[in-house]
Amino acid sequence: MKVFLFFLAPLFTLVMSAQQLPTDYLTSDFHKGRRDAFRAEMPANAVAVLFSNPVRNRANDVDYIYHQDPNFHYLTGYNEPHAILLLFSSPQTTPDGTTYKELIFVQERNALAEQWNGRRLGVEGTIATLGFESAFNGSEFAALDIDFKSFDKLLFYNFKNDYRDTRDGADLFDLVKSFKNKIGFPSNYNATRQQAYTLIQSTPVEQTDKVVKLLDRYARMDPSLSEDPYIKDFMAAARVGDNQKILDRAKTAVNIALSQYNFDLEGLDRIMSGLRETKLPEEMALLKKAIEISAIGQLEVMKAMHPGMSETEVQGVHEYVYKKYGAEYEGYPSIVGGGNNGCILHYIENNKPQLGAELVLMDLGAEYHGYTADVTRTIPANGVFSPEQKAIYEIVYNAQEAGIAASIVGAPFSAPGAVASKVVAEGLISLGLIKEASEARKYFPHGTSHYLGLDVHDKGTNGPFKSNTVITVEPGIYIPEGSDCDPKWWGIAVRIEDDILISDQGPVLLSHMAPRSVEAIEAAMKLPSPLDSFSLPTLD
Ligand code: GLY
Ligand code: MN
Ligand code: MN
Repeated sequence: MKVFLFFLAPLFTLVMSAQQLPTDYLTSDFHKGRRDAFRAEMPANAVAVLFSNPVRNRANDVDYIYHQDPNFHYLTGYNEPHAILLLFSSPQTTPDGTTYKELIFVQERNALAEQWNGRRLGVEGTIATLGFESAFNGSEFAALDIDFKSFDKLLFYNFKNDYRDTRDGADLFDLVKSFKNKIGFPSNYNATRQQAYTLIQSTPVEQTDKVVKLLDRYARMDPSLSEDPYIKDFMAAARVGDNQKILDRAKTAVNIALSQYNFDLEGLDRIMSGLRETKLPEEMALLKKAIEISAIGQLEVMKAMHPGMSETEVQGVHEYVYKKYGAEYEGYPSIVGGGNNGCILHYIENNKPQLGAELVLMDLGAEYHGYTADVTRTIPANGVFSPEQKAIYEIVYNAQEAGIAASIVGAPFSAPGAVASKVVAEGLISLGLIKEASEARKYFPHGTSHYLGLDVHDKGTNGPFKSNTVITVEPGIYIPEGSDCDPKWWGIAVRIEDDILISDQGPVLLSHMAPRSVEAIEAAMKLPSPLDSFSLPTLD
């Protein structure tokens, strides 16, 4: 394969003013090890290409706080924008005989930009602190001479095309544009059509039925697929069930169409999902910390809560506790919903001024060095559950207990949801809120579990549970005002969400520091809080 790298980065010692930083970040060896693990999963003669996350504008000249793409962070530890990573399945050789198996292009150092907007690692810092053998400035990517067509597979995520072209000639916009030119990415490339073709190509006859269902789904996403002659052929042949000649014709046609491109828009996510589903010890240390500090935040709020509090203030107390422990961010926008607001599953306005005697649903998670918790507690703002609140709470609690007990190695990913849904349905029937189990979805409209890690809804395979996986178990019951039931239930919303480590020793409740049962919550709410004596001047 012909590859010319016409430059090699000089290895300068990094000159940056000394900074005191936390010492518990993932190490460069971790990221390097993950790149090796990634390569081990790559098909032969392939290259994977990943981009950093875009910078998002908030208003005028203010951007949202930058957050790296979790895959990019996992593989590199580089947390700045405007970067591109190339991983090769096997070592590549330059004309002068140098070999390399990865390339990273990063933001160039720039004294003025750094004075205004923060330090940059640059090429030298990337080599010195992130363990790359070489690194290059983004501006050098355009001239990179690699014949991407010579690879059997080119793994990348489909482009979202939702980033700005700035005055910087090597921003993400320019990197993507250059990459598209290098690989000959057609402007009308239809990824869903390619996915459909790949399905047709790779489906054994006995699974044709499954594929028809998937193709129907693709066609709903992109109606033009229903008019595609090859897909039409395949669907027609598959529906009658025995038309081998038409099936073969469709397969030959899609083989020819697919051979035009070496793009693989699914392989990258498949590999990342496999790698990220189970956590290494270094990751577990950070994830556990994120979860513990989130649970402690819940406890501190229980101690501080009183009927005069606002949703915003509750949010502030949680987030202060995380920051006190050094968490950089929230893993997702904090949800604090009093009463009926709790029925909005991802309620983030958090602007009710007084909580009164309502239940408060608090779904919050600290992000610590990239890893995020996801813990929900629902508590009565006045410290005591009413009989109706308690009745609903107990059903959700029992559903959660059943879900946690089902979170064991080897169980299907759906196991916690299956048992939790059954408990919720039985409970709602026993209270007369529904008549049949099939109606339960009205009050429990979401899934019970998802993976947890660098993303709150983390990547994973959805296969049978493996040891060292972290999931949430989060049943809920939500009865919005106006529901078709006795108004005494209206405005009651309960979610209980805990973070569970699936281990060979059984499920481990990582968020145990947050009181969970009715009794434990009511007891915690009687404890004194340092905020009891915190007062601020009244404003006019
Ligand atoms: N906090 C979002 C969720 O529970 O999935
Ligand atoms: Mn969750
Ligand atoms: Mn949550």
